[in-house]
Amino acid sequence: MNFAYKILGTGSYLPGPSVENERFSEFLDTSDEWISTRTGISRRHLSQGEPTWKMGLHAATAAVEAAGIDAREIGLIIVSTLTPDYTTPILSCILQKELGAVNAFCFDVNEACTGFIQCFDIAMRYLMTSDIRHVLIVSAESLSKLVDYSDRRSCVLFGDGAGAVVLSRDLKSENTPYEAFFGADGELGGAIVGEAFPPARHPFMPEDMPVELTRFDHPSGRHIAMQGQEVYRFATTKMPFSVEKVLARANLSVDQIDRIIPHQANDRILQSAAKRLGIPSEKMVSHLRDMGNTSSASIPICLDQEVRAGRIKRGEKLIFAGFGGGLTYGALLCEY
Ligand code: UT7
Repeated sequence: MNFAYKILGTGSYLPGPSVENERFSEFLDTSDEWISTRTGISRRHLSQGEPTWKMGLHAATAAVEAAGIDAREIGLIIVSTLTPDYTTPILSCILQKELGAVNAFCFDVNEACTGFIQCFDIAMRYLMTSDIRHVLIVSAESLSKLVDYSDRRSCVLFGDGAGAVVLSRDLKSENTPYEAFFGADGELGGAIVGEAFPPARHPFMPEDMPVELTRFDHPSGRHIAMQGQEVYRFATTKMPFSVEKVLARANLSVDQIDRIIPHQANDRILQSAAKRLGIPSEKMVSHLRDMGNTSSASIPICLDQEVRAGRIKRGEKLIFAGFGGGLTYGALLCEY
């Protein structure tokens, strides 16, 4: 099938002043040395009360401006978030209203840290099979809402931010390479757990009926609890595996790829994947030092920062690779 697309515009937003590692030692038994050597993170941006939708709006506005289109030309808005402000209206509808994208239909996706690449793949399928010309994809996350700031094993890792992409059908080109691969392992669901809503205590229940979530061994309330080493093992295996899958599907070798933009969780995961794939570490984009783990927003933030710094050029072949809650994983190969 002949199909051409273009990443027409990108945008990103990081809130507030950044918070340095040392600040955590003021109330936790931790240190800049531990955090930076174990994760590669030096600082992260944390919302100073800004809602997730507002961060998403900043990133989306920048992407639409960079694409040079009118918001009314957008046919679909897909948002990935694990940290929305409302259960309804969904975040994509809030953005539709704020942008004036009156011709777009909207939906949200929650696939935790794998969310952006899933949205990208869904967008691609709409572009291939419908008359939609432009899709706006926004990943907006406020991990500070989910993190337990008394848990040193997780709170130092996460940051807030948003990234966005306008993905469009390209009427001029003949064909553009694209491949994607996704997987999931629900057996490992307990490795990253955060509660959404506890079961209801409604008027039609016996008063003495216990109300508790028992699905996982370590219920963590609304805060995220992570078994770090379990996720680490998963990520160091599944990330290179997913990259190899899309390379095989595209019939390309890793040397033909210009850059891999992985989900930003831990520099050691990225370096281990680079080693296993046999690529120089410079090809594995890492912005962890300055932003930490922003869940599904991490890939589009990195993409935008690389594009705006002029480090990614038109025609380059990129791989985005994600992994996280679920547990889920995947990768996609596209052209910038
Ligand atoms: O986006 C979702 C995907 N998430 C990930 O990909 C995260 C994957 N996992 C990781 O990146 C790493 O497992 C962590 C960064 C979370 C942890 O690093 P680690 O090298 O696996 O450390 P560990 O969990 O084995 O802990 C080693 C020690 C423990 O102390 P003991 O039991 O050996 O005395 C921890 O309590 O380090 C301790 N520790 C800390 N010490 C100082 C854990 N967190 C901290 C901390 N400061 N912040």
